Amino acid sequence: MISYPDRNDVIERVYDYGQEHIFAFWERLPDAGRKALLDDASSIDFKLLARLYRQAGESAPPAMGFEPAPYIPVPADSGAVRRFEAAREDGSALIRRGAVAAFVVAGGQGSRLGFDGPKGLFAVGPVSGKSLFRIHAEKILKSSEKYGAPIPWLIMTSEANHADTMRYLAAHNHFGLDEKDVYIFPQSMIPSLDAGGRLILESPSAIFKNPDGHGGSLSALAGSGTLAAMRGRGIEVISYFQVDNPLVSIVDPVFIGFHAQGGADISSKGLMKAYPDEKLGVFVRFDDGTIGVVEYSDLPEDLQNMRDERGALRFCMGSIAIHLFNVGFLEKIAGGAEASLPFHVARKNIVSHTLSGPVEIEGFKFEKFVFDALPLTDKNIVLEIRREDEFAPVKNPSGVDSVESAHELMTGLYRRWIGKRGIRIPARVQKIEISPLLALEAADIPASLSIPDTESVYLE
Ligand code: UTP
Repeated sequence: MISYPDRNDVIERVYDYGQEHIFAFWERLPDAGRKALLDDASSIDFKLLARLYRQAGESAPPAMGFEPAPYIPVPADSGAVRRFEAAREDGSALIRRGAVAAFVVAGGQGSRLGFDGPKGLFAVGPVSGKSLFRIHAEKILKSSEKYGAPIPWLIMTSEANHADTMRYLAAHNHFGLDEKDVYIFPQSMIPSLDAGGRLILESPSAIFKNPDGHGGSLSALAGSGTLAAMRGRGIEVISYFQVDNPLVSIVDPVFIGFHAQGGADISSKGLMKAYPDEKLGVFVRFDDGTIGVVEYSDLPEDLQNMRDERGALRFCMGSIAIHLFNVGFLEKIAGGAEASLPFHVARKNIVSHTLSGPVEIEGFKFEKFVFDALPLTDKNIVLEIRREDEFAPVKNPSGVDSVESAHELMTGLYRRWIGKRGIRIPARVQKIEISPLLALEAADIPASLSIPDTESVYLE
């Protein structure tokens, strides 16, 4: 066994769990490298990893039976329109009171997009080329002006992109937001394992880890002190969204109003699945009465395809990872075992650093999913939204869910907003972008606006 002054307890633990291959480069490592490796090893929960590895081979279908979850549909009659207006009023009051914060999870690796850097820096404005972070920041700034209250912006990063994210936002003066209103904190990391349950070396002195999933956001919120800071500022509701959706309505008074009226712990937005095997989790009500999301990969094919008497998909309400969290609920689960959501396993190709050089291997990556918090709630509301109004995920470099599809969806939405205001769009116009600083919804667009007769139009 190798040894190192004052660190033999860590070394012993590594051997006890049969992970001593991480010392493969020990003889060649300078002292700083040895220390770094031991620090890395000391932060690892070996017992947890051993358990996760045992579970990795087993598939974990939902533990109980379920039926489709109830939801509030898009308004279809005048009664519903009135209920939506009442929700808007209640939600607006909460925002005006300064009780709402916005929370973006941006700790992912964005491996499908293949963009070098934090995904939030990726340019998505169809005309302006604005980055995702800038669009989100401007929406928050505009909401805060519109409702006359500060809206804190919480940003969860991870080890790989934390420093770049901090630098980028500071270099752009947080896009006009007050620095005191921006809270940036990293999520936790967890080691991946190879097919034999062994740790993987990323370099001779570092163990390969990945961010612990968007579900890591709840413990990161509490652990970083941000949840306590929100309580201190009188925040009651945290509006959660993903970094890669430029159409998201970050501070939505109608959604917030329904959440408040219903006394919900978590509320979620959903949309009609476009086709049975669309890769969206679906909202369900489990047999014990709790609401949850069943991942698309866990929904058996017969249930995926099941139709109701009208021929519509039975499990139709897809989750788009937009939620409202009550601060009181997050405090209740923080610290307890509940806050530590379960890990899910995914098989991924990982580059392993070996004595004979880098080798690509298949490994197990562990992640938590934020929607696993739903069944912990006493009350949950699902609100249906129109896909084309609020959902343009940028996941891939081209094709489905790419920057191209996002450009089309953004232009389409802005066209509809302008149309709703009765403003004419010249035939030559191909691309339109409306700055969030001008309008967050159709009603914000001044009726006097005229659209220039050019191919690309940017309205600000
Ligand atoms: P995705 O599931 O799309 O993952 O994340 P990703 O890492 O961004 O992209 P791929 O799968 O590698 O291509 C959905 C949202 O959850 C965040 C992402 O930043 C994105 O906003 N996320 C994901 C985290 O914040 N942390 C994680 O560990 C994983």
